[in-house]
Amino acid sequence: PHLSRAAGAAPIPYGAAVRAGALASDPTYRAAVAAMCEIIVPEGEMKWSDIHPKRGEYRFENADALVDFARQNRIEIRGHTLAWYGALPAWTSEFANGAEAERELVDHIETVVSRYRGTVPSWDVVNEPLADWPQDRFSLRPSIWMNRLGPEYLPIAFKATASADPDAKLVLNEYDVEYHGARFEARRKALIQLLRWLRDRDVPLHAVGLQAHLFAGRTIDRDGLQALLAEIVALKLDVLITELDVVDKDLPGKIGERDALVAAMAAQFLDACCEVVRPKAILTWGLTDRYTWVPTFFKRADGMPNRPLPLDAEFKPKPLFDVIEEYRRKF
Ligand code: G3I
Repeated sequence: PHLSRAAGAAPIPYGAAVRAGALASDPTYRAAVAAMCEIIVPEGEMKWSDIHPKRGEYRFENADALVDFARQNRIEIRGHTLAWYGALPAWTSEFANGAEAERELVDHIETVVSRYRGTVPSWDVVNEPLADWPQDRFSLRPSIWMNRLGPEYLPIAFKATASADPDAKLVLNEYDVEYHGARFEARRKALIQLLRWLRDRDVPLHAVGLQAHLFAGRTIDRDGLQALLAEIVALKLDVLITELDVVDKDLPGKIGERDALVAAMAAQFLDACCEVVRPKAILTWGLTDRYTWVPTFFKRADGMPNRPLPLDAEFKPKPLFDVIEEYRRKF
């Protein structure tokens, strides 16, 4: 098979979200990740709930294991994520006020980012800040951070990350900005306004991550997505594709047909992106259908396994794999 790394470097590096547990228990998976990924990102191991489960108590074992795995295999590792509404341990709901929330956020960022300074060159500092259907740039998703600190939590998080690792590339990571429809148009508009607001305030930010959890069945708004990317480029920010996969919940059961539709959806997205900008990286949210978040959230009604990723559950490359290879080598 034309495994990415074996086939030689492509202009756009490929990576995937990985799970420490599966790397430890599944040698075939470990070998596939080492053979194919130039970048990995922990699917959960660097989230608050995993790395900072109790007040004042950090657990670094799983994140460290991934950092070691990356080093041993000469793979780059990205950090995910520092300020998010999700995966928060219960104790964070006990913040008495904004001052305490800010202190804990900054302390967390300083602790985690300085631990991996020099080994984790890029961080998803803020994840999914936009409200579902934003009205303006300040209509951000409710979270502990938003509720306690307001939109100011973004500058606080980016500045704390930059001060803990001045060389790190700082990323704002967002989803649901690629489709046709009023809600997605509102999200694109709000994202641009938010990025301008951060730029006007000299907030250290280097790139926008487009997650690209694509839903087969929705349509990509090519013009809308390209206009968004042009704005991002005009702001002198890089673009990364950080979590690509295709949710196949409502697609036909016939595997050949389904895999073709999944690949076509990704091709639509990548084609629109790559006409405007050369992404710094393309990462999928998992490598193989054996380990994917999709069935937890979008199980198929026919009981057949989901197939959202480049390799099937037996590590055989699917049409999605070829599409990613094609766009990585377009430049
Ligand atoms: O660790 C427990 C385990 O002990 C328990 O037996 C099991 C039972 O459900 O749950 C396990 O925790 C789950 C964890 O993943 C580890 O598998 C959580 O319930 C589950 O909520 C968690 O989901 C993750 C989700 O983020 C929330 O953190 C997904 O795996 C992960 O793929 C998903 O990733 C997000 C990105 O961070 C941000 N963008 C969207 C993306 C997909 O939702």
